[in-house]
Amino acid sequence: MSATPVTVEADVSSGLPRFQIVGLPDAAVSEAKDRVRAAMKNSGFPFPRTNVTINLAPADTRKQGPLYDLAIALAILGAQGTIVDAKLLERTVVIGELSLDGTIRPARGVLLASSMAKREGYSGVLVAKENINEARLVEPLHIASARSLKDCVDQIETGKWQQLPKAVEIEAPPTSPTTDHGDDFALIAGQLHAKRALEIAAAGGHNILLSGPPGSGKTMLARAFASLLPPPTVDESIEITSIHSIAGLLHGQRITNRPFRAPHHTSSGIALVGGGTQPRPGEISLAHRGVLFLDEFPEFSRAVLENLRQPLEDGTIAVSRASGSVTFPARFMLVASMNPCPCGFISDPGIACTCTPGNILKYQQKISGPLLDRIDLRVEVPRVAFDDLSSTTPGESSAVIRERVTTVRSLTQERYASFGIFTNAELKPSLMKAWCALTNDGMILLKSAVDRLHMSARSYGRILKVARTIADLAREETISAAHLAEALQYRIRNA
Ligand SMILES: Nc1ncnc2c1ncn2[C@@H]1O[C@H](COP(=O)(O)OP(=O)(O)OP(=O)(O)O)[C@@H](O)[C@H]1O
Ligand SMILES: [Mg+2]
Repeated sequence: MSATPVTVEADVSSGLPRFQIVGLPDAAVSEAKDRVRAAMKNSGFPFPRTNVTINLAPADTRKQGPLYDLAIALAILGAQGTIVDAKLLERTVVIGELSLDGTIRPARGVLLASSMAKREGYSGVLVAKENINEARLVEPLHIASARSLKDCVDQIETGKWQQLPKAVEIEAPPTSPTTDHGDDFALIAGQLHAKRALEIAAAGGHNILLSGPPGSGKTMLARAFASLLPPPTVDESIEITSIHSIAGLLHGQRITNRPFRAPHHTSSGIALVGGGTQPRPGEISLAHRGVLFLDEFPEFSRAVLENLRQPLEDGTIAVSRASGSVTFPARFMLVASMNPCPCGFISDPGIACTCTPGNILKYQQKISGPLLDRIDLRVEVPRVAFDDLSSTTPGESSAVIRERVTTVRSLTQERYASFGIFTNAELKPSLMKAWCALTNDGMILLKSAVDRLHMSARSYGRILKVARTIADLAREETISAAHLAEALQYRIRNA
């Protein structure tokens, strides 16, 4: 998740007309030849009829994509003397694809490039007009933008270039509009148990699985879950924005909402975890610091779901491809929903289940034990009773619950500030020792639970973390038996 500078050098010398690009370019970079030649000609700059060599340094890293077009064109114009003051460009990061008429097209990953420019002390960044807001998210830095190659050269020639305003002097970059996140919790009848579990999940950043008969409101609850989350902190927001920038999904604004991604169950492994020949972040990375909602959990292919195991544990995903390996952050909350059996009624006391035992087993086996072990809270969402449905007293609204969630989140953020984590779910074993102190009763209960329920070491850790969140919601320092008991009941495997 960081950019590396590539130096573009041009040599224009006498000899037979020839145009070559060296320095490990891929096919898209090599095609720059045709785009640059046409763009220059159509902008009124004759292309040299001599020998032109472009070198992309360092020569041992593979260069991908069309984002070098503009830099190549400017290097040639500098080398042949069209741009007199080419020295100006030496410490500038230039990113842009050219179209045949000379227009500069926006590129992806501009936010990372401008962060790099600031880190490495470049004097400025030159991007397409469409990318300016994205480049401006990094302050303070000289940012220039141009519509076309001609516009760009004019700016340099007229000296407008030197008077570029600093990013801070331009108005603040816009933030993303608040999106509509499903229904409000007040509109969901009954389901107090599930609502409580969702509140805990939101406060601590835990994973949750909702299971119940058709039409009981699982999808509705999961969609409303996003409305419980406080907006991301500035650091979180930059992380989220960087990932969307790489994926080319940014429209020039900083993302100030937590993402809510709900990929369909037909999604492929690459779509979910990321990859491809030019590795791109998948849904789990786009859901970083937000929610990944997998509706109809068992309908996802088992192989696709197994990919989630490592990122659920580490909060990052490493994708290796022939062109190299990349690591994307993937610290998301998993919210999954499922029916307990193919017909959906095995857990319903009033309706007979029509599935054969074999079918039920096959259905449940689609979700592996190790994956289930990583889900902290498993909640039964039963059919809603008529009295609840017809009741006119509204439940708690999302805003009220969000307030409690926000209190816990600010508390944990402050508590773990020096460890670089934000939530209880991210606690590492070493930190758990320090922060998950138990009362004596709590210790006794936990011991008997671990022994009798044959819990894994992971379950033990995850229960403690959930209990920590429950104690935080109750604003208590030490985890008591009551907090543990609540955490334990979400862990018992249902149906
Ligand atoms: N608790 C509830 N309160 C109010 N309306 C509800 C509730 N549960 C379900 N509904 C209504 O039923 C519709 C279907 O609910 P939803 O899609 O959430 O069910 P589901 O549990 O996801 O079912 P399935 O297992 O078939 O996916 C909702 O759009 C809503 O109109
Ligand atoms: Mg549903």
